[in-house]
Amino acid sequence: MAFGCWVGVVVLLSVWPSVRCSDLPRGAIETACRDRYLLVTTQLSFAGNKPRFEAVDADGVHPITKQYGSECGYMFSILPLRGHAELRASYFSCHTDNQDDEVFTFSFNLITIDANGVEATYSVTATCSLPLPWSPREVSCEENYMEVSMRSDVSCLSGTTDAWTAALAHSSATSTWQVMFQQEGQQLIPMSFSEARELGYVFHLTRGRLVFRSPYTPRSVMGSINGSVVEVVHPILFSRQRWVVMMVDWIVACSTNEGMYDGAGLVWQTPTLLSPLVSGLSGLESSKISMGVDGQLLDEPITAERGYSLDISDTTVQISIPFNAAGGYRKSFVMDNMYREFYVVHLYYEQIFLDDCGVETRLRLHRPMNTPLLIQHLSIINQTVLEDRVFTVYLGNLSYDVDLVVVKLNGHDFTIPEANKSGLVITMVPQPNSTLHAYILRVPFEDAVVHKLYSPEGLLQFSLDINYTLVILPQEEPFYYLASVVAQFNDVFPPVFKGICNEKSISFQMDHKSFDYLWEVGVGPYILTTNLAAKLGYIMQNDSKSLNLEVPLFSVGYTYKDINLKQFYGSFEIHSRLPKTLEVKSSLAKACLFQTTEVIVCSTEGVVTVVTDVTLAIPGAEPNGTFLLDSTCRPQETDDTRVLFSFGLHTCGTRVQHVTYENDINVEHKSQSVNAPVKSRDTASVVTVRCVYPLSDLYKLFAYWRFEADSPGVGTILTRVPVKSKCSVVVQLKRVVKLLQLFTPDSLSNHSISAHLSTHYPHHHQKTVDLHNYFQHRP
Ligand SMILES: *[C@@H]1O[C@H](CO)[C@@H](O)[C@H](O)[C@H]1NC(C)=O
Ligand SMILES: *[C@@H]1O[C@H](CO)[C@@H](O)[C@H](O)[C@H]1NC(C)=O
Ligand SMILES: *[C@@H]1O[C@H](CO)[C@@H](O)[C@H](O)[C@H]1NC(C)=O
Ligand SMILES: *[C@@H]1O[C@H](CO)[C@@H](O)[C@H](O)[C@H]1NC(C)=O
Ligand SMILES: *[C@@H]1O[C@H](CO)[C@@H](O)[C@H](O)[C@H]1NC(C)=O
Ligand SMILES: *[C@@H]1O[C@H](CO)[C@@H](O)[C@H](O)[C@H]1NC(C)=O
Ligand SMILES: *[C@@H]1O[C@H](CO)[C@@H](O)[C@H](O)[C@H]1NC(C)=O
Ligand SMILES: *[C@@H]1O[C@H](CO)[C@@H](O)[C@H](O)[C@H]1NC(C)=O
Ligand SMILES: *[C@@H]1O[C@H](CO)[C@@H](O)[C@H](O)[C@H]1NC(C)=O
Repeated sequence: MAFGCWVGVVVLLSVWPSVRCSDLPRGAIETACRDRYLLVTTQLSFAGNKPRFEAVDADGVHPITKQYGSECGYMFSILPLRGHAELRASYFSCHTDNQDDEVFTFSFNLITIDANGVEATYSVTATCSLPLPWSPREVSCEENYMEVSMRSDVSCLSGTTDAWTAALAHSSATSTWQVMFQQEGQQLIPMSFSEARELGYVFHLTRGRLVFRSPYTPRSVMGSINGSVVEVVHPILFSRQRWVVMMVDWIVACSTNEGMYDGAGLVWQTPTLLSPLVSGLSGLESSKISMGVDGQLLDEPITAERGYSLDISDTTVQISIPFNAAGGYRKSFVMDNMYREFYVVHLYYEQIFLDDCGVETRLRLHRPMNTPLLIQHLSIINQTVLEDRVFTVYLGNLSYDVDLVVVKLNGHDFTIPEANKSGLVITMVPQPNSTLHAYILRVPFEDAVVHKLYSPEGLLQFSLDINYTLVILPQEEPFYYLASVVAQFNDVFPPVFKGICNEKSISFQMDHKSFDYLWEVGVGPYILTTNLAAKLGYIMQNDSKSLNLEVPLFSVGYTYKDINLKQFYGSFEIHSRLPKTLEVKSSLAKACLFQTTEVIVCSTEGVVTVVTDVTLAIPGAEPNGTFLLDSTCRPQETDDTRVLFSFGLHTCGTRVQHVTYENDINVEHKSQSVNAPVKSRDTASVVTVRCVYPLSDLYKLFAYWRFEADSPGVGTILTRVPVKSKCSVVVQLKRVVKLLQLFTPDSLSNHSISAHLSTHYPHHHQKTVDLHNYFQHRP
């Protein structure tokens, strides 16, 4: 073989491009000598989409067109699936140099066209030595022609009587060779070779063989043998040489059945005996049948391994090639957002017949077959198990060239690595007994992408809409597949609390249920967390079974009412709500009766209620002798040691200290005369009570002359214990008692928390300041 090249004429190009033979990429043009033809292949990547060939001989160049190829023994096709174009040239093709039917020399021009329309011509030459000896008769059923060649000295030939009669009748007229085409029910009309050539029939005589070639034409006889379509051409040559009439009776028959798709693969049938080949021959028998693909026969172990089957009965031969079996070409693509595919295989078939003289007829057949456009139905299986609380969705029936690249879950895109990072699991699994594969997607119900729907009837629904983006490789053509899964639970209700009154606290208890996580447990506007509980002094115990919360009396969140010296109600509310809507779904306000010891409550209405033990400040002081700065304000209740006062912020002489409202509890001096006025110089004030309100409430106060706070005040009771000394009474801060506060939306700032904590754990500095204030007011 040899390649030569030059660059051909170009359309509208000012520059003459040049290609040197050394530029030929590897495999750009290849040739191979097969049993009965030369195969020339050229890669489309090199030759462009529309390469063509010309046959070259001493007479010049002969473009191989469709028609010309079918008459002259050339089969050219472009095979995009394989990425190449191929030319099969019969050893008896018109422009091939034939030396003794043994050595065949071919010469072609390959004309390529690149993307810019530039044509280049490469010369291809090849020489083949016959790989396999000729059989006496050989029939080649190419895609575009039928060819028969016979040894010219076969002794056992015989003709039909009709033909003899016709040949004798016409032979008187001429001594040159004539040809008649026998057709059923038609008169035999002789014609010259040139007339026959014009009809597309080619006859030629080589050194040892007679060759006849015919395109598949409407003139050929179409017959049906047991459901198989067979095309037959039956020429009879004759010539009269003096008293001898020589006659050659030829026949060429090819089965032209198309391959069929039977749902599993491609099936092709042919009659076991092509009766036209038999006609006139006695005892023709089929002796050997072989199959292969792409113009080459395959050994049986290989065909078996690939799943091909060859069934030979007395009447028919049936060949089946399973879908996507090796040796064929499969193509998948997207149409109308559907995954489509087809499969193509180029069947090669050989059958050997023997007649009773032992003369062999060898038939070879090329048959391209393809499936129709098939839709691969993907399968979606909902493998969700409610108890696992994970959506498990199986997407199957994906061909090996289909990849999952993105899942859109309720509108959120995740690539596969992203999904993996986000706690979703996508695994690829092979499908048993097939080349298909599948993906399993797992999305926990709790995942943020899952839509949750809760109705107060106790119905909880999780839903997930999936839009799979799949691509077909290698072109990465995308298509989409949709699926939806839903999971429903009944009798799902918010957590329920039990409240228990203790001596100095309220306890709440909640048993955990499956869907508790849907709700948040709230105290006031805050979510109950370990952190919050620690900050506010709540005692929380949470294990897998239940949550226990103990809220000590006077801690943040309590409200109080009906305070008297004996007892009061303290209540604390805990609730559960849906996080998004903040809608309270269940709440428990537990009110408990507590023993009163010391209390100060600064209400949002601006009322201070205080119970305190005055004897701590002045031992032996009479509680019923106490009064506020305004001495007409007397305790509402007293017992042996304690007093209960309740007064408005603008009454009883309460001092406004910026945002601090303060009052003193005074005690009468007993040592003075009994009828001494209550408000005497000797009056000692022993307890200062104080409410501190936010500044904003103060502005309101001035604007409306009416008290109405957004948030309750912070109360303090300062009890001063007199200490006897030589020259004066030194008042000492004994303790800062209680601070009571209710929640307000903005009050869980550092300020209120620290205020709260500092009252519980007053540090030294604060004591000093309080004392200092005291002495300023009471010099
Ligand atoms: C067609 O098939 C039948 C049996 O199915 C057989 O008897 C007959 O010989 C066959 N004909 C040909 C031409 O093969
Ligand atoms: C999966 O593909 C097979 C054929 O490959 C088909 O029989 C089956 O019905 C498909 N499954 C679904 C759910 O479409
Ligand atoms: C997801 O990540 C895990 C490790 O975190 C890995 O084992 C697994 O193969 C990954 N899956 C995919 C589909 O990438
Ligand atoms: C796969 O093939 C094996 C044996 O070939 C068979 O036992 C099994 O049932 C097949 N499985 C499926 C899912 O078809
Ligand atoms: C699925 O996702 C693709 C890509 O984002 C989009 O074009 C398509 O409209 C989606 N299909 C549906 C039904 O949402
Ligand atoms: C999927 O499976 C779950 C659990 O078995 C079931 O509740 C649900 O109805 C199924 N169907 C859909 C469409 O999600
Ligand atoms: C209590 O513990 C459970 C797990 O045992 C947890 O889901 C829940 O969030 C915890 N509750 C609080 C308020 O910390
Ligand atoms: C206070 O109570 C005592 C006895 O409990 C009584 O003797 C005294 O008169 C009362 N004083 C006033 C001012 O009510
Ligand atoms: C609370 O106070 C601490 C220290 O006093 C400070 O670092 C922090 O930023 C404060 N937080 C807020 C929300 O003001």
